[in-house]
Amino acid sequence: MLSSEDNELLTRIGPGTPMGSLIRRFWIPVSFADKIEKPDGPPVRVRIMGENLVLFRDTEGRIGLVDERCPHRTASLYYGRNEQCGIRCVYHGWKFDVHGNCVDLPSEPSSSGFRDKIKIKAYACHEAGGLVWAYMGATDSKPEFPELEWTLIPADHRHVTRHIQECNWLQGLEGGFDTSHLSFLHGGAVESRMGVVPGRYEIVPGDFGFVAGTGRDLEDGNTFWTAAAMLMPFHKIIPSEPMAAHVWAPIDDENTMLYSVDFNPTRPLTDEDLQRTKAFRGIHTENIPGTDRAIQNKDNEYMIDRALQSSGTSFTGMKGLGIQDCAIQESMGPIADRTLEHLGVSDSAIIRIRRILLKMVKDEIAGVSPSPPPGSSYRIRSARFLAPNDRKFAEMIGEKMHIRDEVR
Ligand code: FES
Ligand SMILES: [Fe+2]
Repeated sequence: MLSSEDNELLTRIGPGTPMGSLIRRFWIPVSFADKIEKPDGPPVRVRIMGENLVLFRDTEGRIGLVDERCPHRTASLYYGRNEQCGIRCVYHGWKFDVHGNCVDLPSEPSSSGFRDKIKIKAYACHEAGGLVWAYMGATDSKPEFPELEWTLIPADHRHVTRHIQECNWLQGLEGGFDTSHLSFLHGGAVESRMGVVPGRYEIVPGDFGFVAGTGRDLEDGNTFWTAAAMLMPFHKIIPSEPMAAHVWAPIDDENTMLYSVDFNPTRPLTDEDLQRTKAFRGIHTENIPGTDRAIQNKDNEYMIDRALQSSGTSFTGMKGLGIQDCAIQESMGPIADRTLEHLGVSDSAIIRIRRILLKMVKDEIAGVSPSPPPGSSYRIRSARFLAPNDRKFAEMIGEKMHIRDEVR
């Protein structure tokens, strides 16, 4: 369990909150890049970190992410005209460029100098991995872009989807590292899987975040390890085949955009690989067309099939790994009340993760946060491997998880 003060510290991400400031030190995904494919095409609404913004690509191909509210009389720039290197408010014609400068103010005499005093909030953007990312922190401490493996490979080597989770970002992240749920929540064959709980949980902190290891001791003297990476502030590199990743980007305190990625560093994904996207165990969801909301959602109880649940072939009766996670994380409420929990030994990873995050957020409050790690720190791979059971997990991860040279 957590005190309600610490729960607030870890979960609230709006402007000015400690966790909000910590996350804003890093690059945050805000959209698929193809939503603003064409220069001067229609702008897109973005809600991220509790802020309402408008995303557009200007005539020169530069990306702008600005406050949705026009600073004149607060009309929405979403209805604006994206034209000649700027977005123009359709109420009285004020126009802003990608840097937030007011480049035209036709409603006032040009001699007044008024235009030079007007600015709109604008964030730096970067395109990678088929997404647009924003940097929302202090302008003088923009970090290097994280060299996540799945963003460095050709587009046909990866498959990226996203869907909204109607709950706080930390519920998603914690769910991603809640190792003991795998045999239960995602149990496909209940009888055979229930109770098969791995015996060892290791969390190894690093400047990038931490590595979470789950080990099962085998009778032959080896331990079978799966090692997942948590990269600050909200990335997971999942140990699976093909490789996979998650990003829990906070929309606001009570909603999260979960990006899910399947990828293969060395070859394009095949149809067979992509079957995972539809298959029972896939991490992706099928969304209501034109939206980021899953077809299986809270309103229809995720289409739970009670007969399937009792049949022994699905622990939840819900189809899809992604939906099972989403359903159970949303079921804890928009912001889980962690004062009510009873954590046991199998929750040691969760406890360690919170300790790491709390230290980071308290450093943020004290003004002693270290700079984000260099982009190359993000070149980490998840891993699954066998090792003699007397070898220390922490000593093996450097060799097992570093990215291979061919991806550079
Ligand atoms: S409200 Fe935007 S120009 Fe007046
Ligand atoms: Fe899960």
